[in-house]
Amino acid sequence: MAAMVDRNPTSALIVGASQGIGLEFVRQLLQTNRLERIYATYRRTQSELLAIADPRLRCLPMDITEEAQIAALVQEIQSETALLHYVINCAGVLHEGAMQPEKSLRQLNAEQLLNYFQVNSIGAVLLAKHVHSLLKHGDRAILATISAKIGSIGDNSLGGWYGYRASKAALNMFMRTTAIEYKRTCPRAIVVTLHPGTTDTQLSRPFQRNVPPEKLFSVERTVQQLLAVLSQLQESDSGEFFSWDGSHLPW
Ligand SMILES: NC(=O)c1ccc[n+]([C@@H]2O[C@H](COP(=O)([O-])OP(=O)(O)OC[C@H]3O[C@@H](n4cnc5c(N)ncnc54)[C@H](OP(=O)(O)O)[C@@H]3O)[C@@H](O)[C@H]2O)c1
Repeated sequence: MAAMVDRNPTSALIVGASQGIGLEFVRQLLQTNRLERIYATYRRTQSELLAIADPRLRCLPMDITEEAQIAALVQEIQSETALLHYVINCAGVLHEGAMQPEKSLRQLNAEQLLNYFQVNSIGAVLLAKHVHSLLKHGDRAILATISAKIGSIGDNSLGGWYGYRASKAALNMFMRTTAIEYKRTCPRAIVVTLHPGTTDTQLSRPFQRNVPPEKLFSVERTVQQLLAVLSQLQESDSGEFFSWDGSHLPW
């Protein structure tokens, strides 16, 4: 992450940190030694996150589909600090229990579609609503949400995965719109969505068969790449959708 020139102690919030990409963000940010405080959220209590012993880390439970829990999280953070420099939202769902990505229209059902939108899109924009007060300050700040290239409408030539695709497309629109409002209300905050590349986590594991080994990233590599992208961001990049290599993705 870029050297900090800001006045205030630096702190970050990582949402969806119990496993996968979010957990690795916590690990690498702790290693950099540049942050004084890291808040990390989890749902599952059986997580390696809760075994990390570091006085800079504070783990807080939060289900992103419950707005009251998002509000309570922000209130808890505000009891300790008035500002955050990084909010990185890694919460997302592709499959869970009986919920599997739909291959055809025949497999669509409203409840599953709603679940995709609640976690992948609505939760993210409600988080943007509640963390606004913590990002409204004079230092450089970043609100980054992990999206997916599959949410690009322009790039969709394969079809399938209706709910996941559409919820990520909605996420991109929510964050683009958030960026426009944040520009007025907290102009130093940079709001972006990021495609991490196919990464070896429980989310992608059932679908990795046709992924060439060189295109399947370890979580360590993915987070290194995304931190490099974040470190290069300018205020003029707010509202954009970036891939893991820093290139722009089509909407
Ligand atoms: N892996 C890939 O190849 C890939 C590719 C493109 C995009 N992405 C995106 O990258 C992000 C991270 O995915 P990952 O691969 O790291 O997956 P993962 O290992 O399954 O992690 C997903 C995280 O989201 C959290 N989460 C799920 N539902 C939640 C809810 N209702 N409230 C709060 N947290 C919730 C999970 O928490 P619990 O474990 O505590 O339930 C977990 O920490 C997701 O947005 C995903 O769509 C991943």
